[in-house]
Amino acid sequence: MPSISVFGAQWGDEGKGKIIDRLASEIDYVVRYQGGANAGHTVIVDGEKYVLHLIPSGILHPGRINVIGGGVAVDPITLIDEMEGLLGRGVAVDGSNLRLAANAHVIFEHHKRIDALSEHGRGKGRIGTTGRGIGPCYADKAARTGLRVCDLLEPDVLESRLRAALAGKNEVIRKVHGAEPLDLDGELERYASLGERLRPFVGDVGLELREAYKQGKRVLFEGAQGAALDIDFGTYPFVTSSNTGVAGVAAGAAFPPRWIDRSIGIAKAYCTRVGEGPFPTELDGEMGERLREAGCEFGATTGRPRRCGWFDAVAVRSAFSLADAQEWVVTNLDVLSGMGDISVGVAYKKGAQRWDQYPLELPDLDGIEVEYETFPGWTEDITGVTTFEGLPATTRAYIERLESLVGARIGMLSVGPDRDQVISRGL
Ligand code: IMP
Repeated sequence: MPSISVFGAQWGDEGKGKIIDRLASEIDYVVRYQGGANAGHTVIVDGEKYVLHLIPSGILHPGRINVIGGGVAVDPITLIDEMEGLLGRGVAVDGSNLRLAANAHVIFEHHKRIDALSEHGRGKGRIGTTGRGIGPCYADKAARTGLRVCDLLEPDVLESRLRAALAGKNEVIRKVHGAEPLDLDGELERYASLGERLRPFVGDVGLELREAYKQGKRVLFEGAQGAALDIDFGTYPFVTSSNTGVAGVAAGAAFPPRWIDRSIGIAKAYCTRVGEGPFPTELDGEMGERLREAGCEFGATTGRPRRCGWFDAVAVRSAFSLADAQEWVVTNLDVLSGMGDISVGVAYKKGAQRWDQYPLELPDLDGIEVEYETFPGWTEDITGVTTFEGLPATTRAYIERLESLVGARIGMLSVGPDRDQVISRGL
């Protein structure tokens, strides 16, 4: 199929980076379409670990074209740091393998400052943002006061728009938060020079993508975060500020929705979440701690310990229903080895009501209980297993039950962090 959308079906950190990296070997274009440097896609190649925040995972494959689409909130500082980090490790990053959408919105220092200050001001109601300026940047985009990558390249436009934006933001920083305002001249100089560094990569990337697709090139859309963090369909307001799923592809990559040929969801064999907000299957006792240790569940972007819990079939089913995805990849299956009995949340309940899809009508999932099914676990180390038949019978039964609960086929299983530690079932 010439175009594939890969999305996270939980609260992010599902291990998309590794799966996208595997698929990238058969793909011409790898495209980010939403989010920003709040994402952290980890890929391990030959024992070497790469954490990518803005640059698509295809950069690790020579000959692939990597696109940062117009729906991404681009922090030029992180982007350039990431480019330099890759160049320093011998990975080619140049105008031939990286493209940046001219219409992508830019994250400035004031966005990051306001993100941190607003989060602090929320006190107990905090969201647990990554502090990367994502929310404030998308807020300016919607308010039509943001600046785009193309603005960085035009000194007069940059000067007048940044001057206007910063005047207002400095008032907020000073008067609302009582913090030090930013220096306009310093910011102008800094972002003009960042823009110059990015100039060779900038263009109408949507047009290039559409032309490429028409010529039969294969395109992969790399989702960041997960379906339950989607601004419209997630656990609002404890969400990120973009459409994380397939719905984000059309606007974020300037790609007609009719041309998205295949959608693949990624979910862990259990569930994690970073930041605040509802997490119905969360395990806060010893079992949560064991999962966190065994799965090395610490944020790739912030280093924060992730909250851990059982697989939530309600959340994953909702993600699949929105995407009409027919197949998925289950990751971190090896982490469940030796955990004893394993539970899965199969439905939410409140009084006489029962939901098998995420109840958007229930603010903060207030008062819901989870209905669980419990399965016998396995003790075997499965990190070296290469076929589905080679897995313990209890592991296979667990996987088959996950398939029937979600209503979609599992085409690949990841059983360890390395690129090659996967069991393919014909994905
Ligand atoms: P923001 O995207 O930085 O505004 O953060 C909003 C919420 O999304 C917070 O709960 C973050 O922890 C969460 N979040 C953002 N990006 C990621 C990610 O890549 N993985 C997991 N959680 C994320």
